[in-house]
Amino acid sequence: MSVTVRVPAKVNVQLAVGAARPDGFHDLANVFLAVGLYDEVTVSPADELRVTCEGPDAAQVPLDGTNLAARAAVALAGRRGIEPAVHIHIAKDIPVAGGMAGGSADGAAALFACNTLWSAGASRAELLAICAELGSDVPFSLVGGAALGTGRGEQLTALEVGGTFHWVFAMAERGLSTPAVFREFDRLGEGLDIPEPVACEDLLDALAKGDPEALAGAVSNDLQPAALSLFPELADTLAVGRGAGALAALVSGSGPTTAFLTRDAESAQKAAQALSASGTCRTVRTAQGPVPGATVMGHSAAR
Ligand code: C5P
Repeated sequence: MSVTVRVPAKVNVQLAVGAARPDGFHDLANVFLAVGLYDEVTVSPADELRVTCEGPDAAQVPLDGTNLAARAAVALAGRRGIEPAVHIHIAKDIPVAGGMAGGSADGAAALFACNTLWSAGASRAELLAICAELGSDVPFSLVGGAALGTGRGEQLTALEVGGTFHWVFAMAERGLSTPAVFREFDRLGEGLDIPEPVACEDLLDALAKGDPEALAGAVSNDLQPAALSLFPELADTLAVGRGAGALAALVSGSGPTTAFLTRDAESAQKAAQALSASGTCRTVRTAQGPVPGATVMGHSAAR
């Protein structure tokens, strides 16, 4: 018996970051959009917990107990008083350390898959609580669509979206560590008065209307200066995308993946070609959003 769950990447169309809290985290107004780049996580019974991974970035994925998918299985098993005796296989297509919640996606997918495999009966609310313990972005990976995340990003309010947005993503030559980007945000903001993060009304309206031009005028990422400070070459990638007609160009989350909002599928293809030819990034992908969150793709009776 095995269970396979498909889970999407995310882009942050707004990432407003407040000052560092006493616990080191930052309050956020984080507008997530799930986009159609997917990891697939398959769980099957095993003698002991084991994680394997395939895909172009597989070598960079930790296969030990630090992997969020492993931690998800341990968390659910611990709540049920059972052993997390499961083989977790990750077919990885979401860039690693890219600011697209790839690790969080695997955590949400493994949790959902183990809940099904073990008939553990966790409710949506319990699954979301475990996701929030695993990481700030993990609850959104479970629910998908579009949502505003407040607190450290884990308290979600679903958002209405009136259309499909067309994106191009440029993956960078190396990754960026999320904690390092937040530390750089703190360093750049030293001595400044950092306002409370709030969701932008124009941006929420643009999402509700499904209007890409209005959305492009409203996107923002407070972590972008920190990501650019640690990875200055990203400015070249952003410039290529803008020059190729993207309506908006921004760093995705803590980066270093750069995200380009385009008018339609055709413009996305054009921007993708220009970015591929530019030599300023490793790979380029197009994807649409919003898409649903973690979804069971199938059960198999075979071991
Ligand atoms: O919650 P998660 O484990 O994904 O966060 C990774 C790191 O990102 C944290 O250790 C922290 O350094 C930073 N972070 C933050 N404020 C948030 C979310 C994440 O400072 N709201």
